[in-house]
Amino acid sequence: MNRGELLAWLRTGDEGRLAQLFAMADGVRRLQVGPAIHLRGLIELSNGCRRSCLYCGLRRESALDRYRLSRDEVVGCARRALALGYGTVVLQAGEDPGLTRRGVSDYVRAIKGETGLAVTLGLGERSVDDLWAWRRAGADRYFMRFETSDPALFARLHPPLPRREPVDRVALLAVLREMGYEIGSGIMVGLPGQTFADLARSVELFAELDLDMVGVGPWIPHPGTPLPDLAAELAAVAAEQVTADEATTLKVVALARLVCPRANIPSTTALALTAGTQGRLRALESGANVVMPNLTPATNRRLYDIYPGKGATEAAVEDVDADLKQQIARLGRVVGSGPGPSLAFRMRT
Ligand code: 5AD
Repeated sequence: MNRGELLAWLRTGDEGRLAQLFAMADGVRRLQVGPAIHLRGLIELSNGCRRSCLYCGLRRESALDRYRLSRDEVVGCARRALALGYGTVVLQAGEDPGLTRRGVSDYVRAIKGETGLAVTLGLGERSVDDLWAWRRAGADRYFMRFETSDPALFARLHPPLPRREPVDRVALLAVLREMGYEIGSGIMVGLPGQTFADLARSVELFAELDLDMVGVGPWIPHPGTPLPDLAAELAAVAAEQVTADEATTLKVVALARLVCPRANIPSTTALALTAGTQGRLRALESGANVVMPNLTPATNRRLYDIYPGKGATEAAVEDVDADLKQQIARLGRVVGSGPGPSLAFRMRT
């Protein structure tokens, strides 16, 4: 698909054409990856962060009680994932220097040793030595969104560490691929200052990187961050400000499926927050094939305050899991079994 075609899909408000796009993505999903919806157990390791991203509630300036899960807590969450039949755990955290090379390697080895589950890491921009050590410890996948394809906007919203060169996330993803990781990336939709051209270029980058996983969710304004107050000013700079709504997010999910037909694509929590359960289901019928139920202990989860509402659910893990499995059955789909690597990865190796 060329830039013009991508832009045409992204700009259209025509309900009929949109239904066509979503049906096409659903068809490609069915043909390529089949009916399985993989469940990944999300474990939010730490809400500590050394960065100052303008959109994120975990930024270092946030007055937030900070936590870091112990090895036993992490292994406990992984055992729960295993008991629920999941094949993968996703270890996510802020960019917390207290999550050391040794510490994370220990978590990964313990999970692999005691559960055998596949391990996905999403721990931000880390040194090549850290990433190598974790790969050697047994981590299977690494996830790092590039957030926007526009380097100037990215630098504005995601300031580099003081006295450090900015990290080129796209280049780092290529390094992760060389290390043998399955790689995931993605963007937020509707960031202040984001244009349709940025979304189109982002979709092209998904294809160029040949991503194994593509995560896309709407930007959710967090009142404790600077970005909501800057939104009007940044939107004025963007020729055509993209809105952070369900329809635009679903378009990007569908386009991601068309350009990365063999990738794993989650229906994200941010989308479910913006568009409810129905929104989550619509993504699963527009190209997505993964859901990531949160297994973080409730007290910690409340503190993983990336955006408002993120850790709000009071429902027990078992109830959320049962609901989800029921919804999957109602869609006429099945719960995926095994580690569920991307088909792209399986064909590449
Ligand atoms: N709204 C939506 N998504 C957000 N993220 C961070 N802050 C927000 C926000 N305010 C997303 C980023 C990051 C992922 C962990 O969470 O895309 O990569």
